[in-house]
Amino acid sequence: MDYWQKANKKLDILRQRDDYLILAIESSCDETAVAITRGKKILSNKISSQIDIHRRFGGVVPEIASRNHILAIDNVLKDALDDAGVMLSDIDAVAVTYGAGLLGALLVGVAYAKSLAYALELPLIAVNHIKGHIAANFITDETLSFPFICLLASGGHTAVLKADSFRNMEILGTTCDDAAGEAFDKVARVLGLPYPGGPQIEACALSGKPTIPMPRAFKGEKHLNFSYSGLKTAVINYVHNTKAKGGEINAADLARSFQDEAVGVLIEKAVLSAKRTGISTIALAGGVGANSALRQGLVEAGEKNDIKVLLPPKSLCTDNAAMIGVAAFLDIAEGALPAGLKLDADASLR
Ligand code: KG4
Ligand code: ZN
Repeated sequence: MDYWQKANKKLDILRQRDDYLILAIESSCDETAVAITRGKKILSNKISSQIDIHRRFGGVVPEIASRNHILAIDNVLKDALDDAGVMLSDIDAVAVTYGAGLLGALLVGVAYAKSLAYALELPLIAVNHIKGHIAANFITDETLSFPFICLLASGGHTAVLKADSFRNMEILGTTCDDAAGEAFDKVARVLGLPYPGGPQIEACALSGKPTIPMPRAFKGEKHLNFSYSGLKTAVINYVHNTKAKGGEINAADLARSFQDEAVGVLIEKAVLSAKRTGISTIALAGGVGANSALRQGLVEAGEKNDIKVLLPPKSLCTDNAAMIGVAAFLDIAEGALPAGLKLDADASLR
């Protein structure tokens, strides 16, 4: 039997159980992450962040990210195994993010995972990063069942989805230009705040008032798509115009005004998605899901509209490997096949 036949056979046996161990790897952007999961439970979840390395460049430098993943991954793997109290020989399957993300960064995780899977003769499960974010909700509530509405807002994606099963999700609306997290990061840069901008804007907005009018994209239109480029441009224009007139920028008020609009539209479209589909659960996913104003606003909207709102802890909203392990578990349960050793990274995976 060759590797692929063995992996297939092992996966068929695992599919009958729910107590097997997955070693999961995530390296799509600037976090090198390894987790050990069992079913929907986390045994360990280790992350080595490169934020301090990229901060001086004002954003992630892809080549530098790849190099640092290579430097970090051995130690993160060792930490994850130690923390879970298991050895490589205890692992039953390997999961890895293969897209979307930075190509070179993804390749490090994919090559590492393929080597591990081949050497240990284990099935390898290829995970879509976005499905990983959605899977974080099953860690938060193990009883979560399909269908549900997912509000996804990360650095690269923004969408409302109808999740009918793990393998079958319908995009109800998506962004036509920038992602929500991207808008946070760009507006932070305009305000002179360091990367990553989301948490910085949130902190800055705490002492501000929403005094500056912001445009709502697609106002009055029925579809559920998003657009963040007009909002970003409104902030940039406000800064330029105020400076040109010799005025002072109140960064806190500007951050608060921007944040209110940026999260307000997410909440509005998530609630609309629930109402239109008649589905009464909204699950939150992606890095912007760590934003307290979004979390609070979503809970309040849920209470008002009789919708259950699921909020993964902030550490599971931003990139991590536990969500990749649980995504693989859910995918295996729905019949996923093992990825072969030809698995490649796909930077623009849908
Ligand atoms: O999901 P994620 O960790 O990585 C991607 O898959 O993109 O999301 C990162 C994005 C960044 O744009 C970051 O600024 C944003 O999530 N973010 C936040 C907050 N924490 C992270 N945005 C708003 N408020 C936050 N507290
Ligand atoms: Zn992410």
